[in-house]
Amino acid sequence: MDQAGYSKTQLHITLLSGFFIGFCVAQFMSYIIISEHILSVSLQLKHETNPVTLNCSTIPEIRHDHPYDNSTVADQLKKEVRILCWVMTNPENHKKKARHIKRTWGKRCNILLFMSSEYDDELPTVKLDVEEGRVNLWRKVKEAFKYVYKHHYNDADWFYKTDDDTYAIIENLRYMLYPYHPMTPVHFGFKYKAYVKQGFMAGGPGYVLSKEALRRFVVEGIPSNKICINDTNEFEDFEIGACMENLNVTAGDSRDWNGRGRMFVSVPQDHLVPDRNTGFWYWNFSFYKNDEGLDCCSDNAISFHYVIPELMYTMDYLIYHLKPYGIVRELHRLPAKLKVGEFLPPPIEEIANSNEDSMDDDDRKH
Ligand SMILES: *[C@@H]1O[C@H](CO)[C@@H](O)[C@H](O)[C@H]1NC(C)=O
Ligand SMILES: *[C@@H]1O[C@H](CO)[C@@H](O)[C@H](O)[C@H]1NC(C)=O
Ligand SMILES: *[C@@H]1O[C@H](CO)[C@@H](O)[C@H](O)[C@H]1NC(C)=O
Ligand SMILES: *[C@@H]1O[C@H](CO)[C@@H](O)[C@H](O)[C@H]1NC(C)=O
Ligand SMILES: *[C@@H]1O[C@H](CO)[C@@H](O)[C@H](O)[C@H]1NC(C)=O
Repeated sequence: MDQAGYSKTQLHITLLSGFFIGFCVAQFMSYIIISEHILSVSLQLKHETNPVTLNCSTIPEIRHDHPYDNSTVADQLKKEVRILCWVMTNPENHKKKARHIKRTWGKRCNILLFMSSEYDDELPTVKLDVEEGRVNLWRKVKEAFKYVYKHHYNDADWFYKTDDDTYAIIENLRYMLYPYHPMTPVHFGFKYKAYVKQGFMAGGPGYVLSKEALRRFVVEGIPSNKICINDTNEFEDFEIGACMENLNVTAGDSRDWNGRGRMFVSVPQDHLVPDRNTGFWYWNFSFYKNDEGLDCCSDNAISFHYVIPELMYTMDYLIYHLKPYGIVRELHRLPAKLKVGEFLPPPIEEIANSNEDSMDDDDRKH
């Protein structure tokens, strides 16, 4: 794409998202009392405004390795903290979005699966017996986790669901999960404080279930209409959040020891350079307080949402290739491992005014 074409597209994206964020705020204001699902509705509205312009053929697959990088610790974690990633996609997005995940961050998972309703040899996909369409998302999530439990329960310790416009840094996901025992009933993600007492994880940045959480979900939750509601519904993140609470699966705290977030509902720039005037309203629903600017985000951030393929390649470059010459970052020591059912203490953070009613892990235990 030439320069002019690019900036035109960018402008277009900016205008569209500006419009839609405004639209979402308006929607939110008028519907908050009517619909308790408005959070997801508004997020999904924004989601659909992201145009995907990248033609897969425009990005050649070039090998560009760094054989002298010291990845000893990351390699060790890949063996000790095995992560199965599954990506929610659909036939229309196999080529437009999903394939770019496979070429970027997806290859760093121990196992990578694409859940769709049609076969695709290239990805490949798992063909679930669920019709496409937003209303079927909750059913799709259940079928996907059933498949994962049936075929891969013993192949991984953690099970990470994402969308096809999520970008994840799997090494950092392993680092966050490292101390936790996979048999601890817990799940992690970006936590909203709404509708579910312990909070629920936003679907966009993805949520990761421990092995025990997966077992409870598939063996105890899905077959019971009381624990996990069996309806047709697009608000899969809310539904699984409610389910997890009913299954006594703790909603974990994904922040780092500083209290900085690691999983994000939007692209990095929305968190780094927030424009409150355009109503980045879902911050109001964050379970924990959010800082702006560089304090927004952990140095070991894990995931972002609404990432178009162009940005996936850009992030891959910025994270795995571009380095300021002469600076070698010190590695923090790995934390001690916890026993089954044990949790890290909450990070030390200042309580923000807007979030005075938020709980920390200690409160939740009682
Ligand atoms: C993508 O590539 C195909 C095949 O080369 C072409 O037909 C199509 O017009 C391209 N789409 C865009 C958006 O450039
Ligand atoms: C690589 O890093 C690890 C952990 O910091 C260290 O123990 C090891 O000596 C390093 N290897 C080389 C070849 O520098
Ligand atoms: C859930 O609903 C679907 C579709 O109506 C049905 O096929 C399935 O058996 C139900 N599952 C449970 C656990 O009730
Ligand atoms: C969750 O814990 C409560 C209280 O300990 C218990 O009564 C309930 O049966 C548990 N639910 C499940 C599904 O394990
Ligand atoms: C978010 O919170 C701020 C400060 O408490 C408030 O002024 C604003 O109206 C809230 N926005 C929405 C959309 O709820």
